[in-house]
Amino acid sequence: MSQPITPRNNEVLLQEGDLIVSKTCLKGNITYANRHFMGIAGFSEQQLLNQPHNIIRHPDMPKGVYRMMWQELRAGHEFFGFVKNLCSDGSFYWVFANVTPDVDERGEIRGYYSVRRKPSREAIAAVIPLYQKMVEIEATGRGSSVIDQSVQFLQDWVASTGMDYSQVALHLYRYGKL
Ligand SMILES: Cc1cc2nc3c(=O)[nH]c(=O)nc-3n(C[C@H](O)[C@H](O)[C@H](O)COP(=O)(O)O)c2cc1C
Repeated sequence: MSQPITPRNNEVLLQEGDLIVSKTCLKGNITYANRHFMGIAGFSEQQLLNQPHNIIRHPDMPKGVYRMMWQELRAGHEFFGFVKNLCSDGSFYWVFANVTPDVDERGEIRGYYSVRRKPSREAIAAVIPLYQKMVEIEATGRGSSVIDQSVQFLQDWVASTGMDYSQVALHLYRYGKL
């Protein structure tokens, strides 16, 4: 996409049972997008293929969430997360994403894929203040490690629940609260 997308305050809601799927290469460029992805985000296949996945990055999303995600993926682990994404017209949609390395028969990571489902309103309501705090830390924190500080904020909050990160994410997805 040559033009940056201007966000606007219009939410697109997923249907129950919708699955939004994409695959990327090792660098995070899109190599596959399913029809739901194109339909909900409002992009053609041609607009998505070979583009970096951050073309749908919403500015309300903390950088720290993606830092954590890439650390887990490069270590060969799956990652769960609530994600607010941009549509081509600037609208937004929330998903619960499961991002996974695509490993070949020799055990080498050859790319990644993400399967996203509709999150509950309760889960989104629980996540929004956490992400707002992370974005604030990233915008106003001091020193070179503001993203580390925002990740630390999230990890401290997770630790306070007595669960690990994946458990908290799945719990919020299933029950909408802790
Ligand atoms: C399989 C896969 C799926 C991804 N899905 C999304 C997504 O839906 N939205 C998003 O903003 N970033 C997604 N990313 C992360 C982006 O590659 C990128 O790290 C993120 O948008 C942050 O952009 P930045 O690194 O330019 O700040 C995905 C990455 C992978 C590997």
